[in-house]
Amino acid sequence: MTPFLFVTDLDNTLVGDDGTLELLNQRLSDHRQQYGTKIVYATGRSLFLYRQLASEKPLLPPDALITSVGAEIYLNNHNLCKPWTAVLSQGWNREAVVAIASKYEDLVLQSESEQSTFKVSYNVTAAAAVEVVPKLKSDIAQNNLNVKVIYSGSTYLDLLPKQGDKGLAVKFLQQNWGIEDHFTVCCGDSGNDIALFSVGVGRGIIVGNAKQELRQWYENNLGNYLYLAKTNYSAGILEGLQHFDFLQ
Ligand code: GLC
Ligand code: MG
Repeated sequence: MTPFLFVTDLDNTLVGDDGTLELLNQRLSDHRQQYGTKIVYATGRSLFLYRQLASEKPLLPPDALITSVGAEIYLNNHNLCKPWTAVLSQGWNREAVVAIASKYEDLVLQSESEQSTFKVSYNVTAAAAVEVVPKLKSDIAQNNLNVKVIYSGSTYLDLLPKQGDKGLAVKFLQQNWGIEDHFTVCCGDSGNDIALFSVGVGRGIIVGNAKQELRQWYENNLGNYLYLAKTNYSAGILEGLQHFDFLQ
């Protein structure tokens, strides 16, 4: 067997079905021990909310942790990766981003723990988002701001520097670790995972319970590097890993 880079979203992808999670954990941890496979979590959660989840669910300690939709990378047991911070800081003006977004009444600021140096997050209903998101995007463009708008789960609106998202954070790790695309597999269920499937020609597993926004994207981007699982959560991941022959 060959070592691979395993990247997964947490909420509603790795986490959702406790029984299969234990089984998948076992398979992955054996593979890591025997062949040097790397395990990376890529979540929208801050480190604070990640720790909360890790205290509730049996999560394997990852080789790297991408939090806040890619605004932070942690290595070696929660050490902030400074070179990634340096990448994100280029051209990022947080105050200007907040000033523009706060003009929109439909955007409700998320809790303090979910705001970070390179991420400003709001909640907005799906109904309001239809109008607000395009307006905000054009406002950002007119003001020449370096901002990426990531909408997911019909609720979450994250604003990050353009050079940051889950997929670009994975690319950064791949380059640092010298791992090729075809030895990389990413798993997800929602809109903020689309970036994970756009990093290159790495393999992608979309779990069976994926949200409409990701299913829609999948329909428009069919390719044999992407696999839509029949089963949900960690069972879907296991199904996909077997489909791509990463696991037997
Ligand atoms: C998590 C984060 C939140 C973010 C969302 C989508 O729920 O806590 O800040 O907006 O993921 O990325
Ligand atoms: Mg998710």
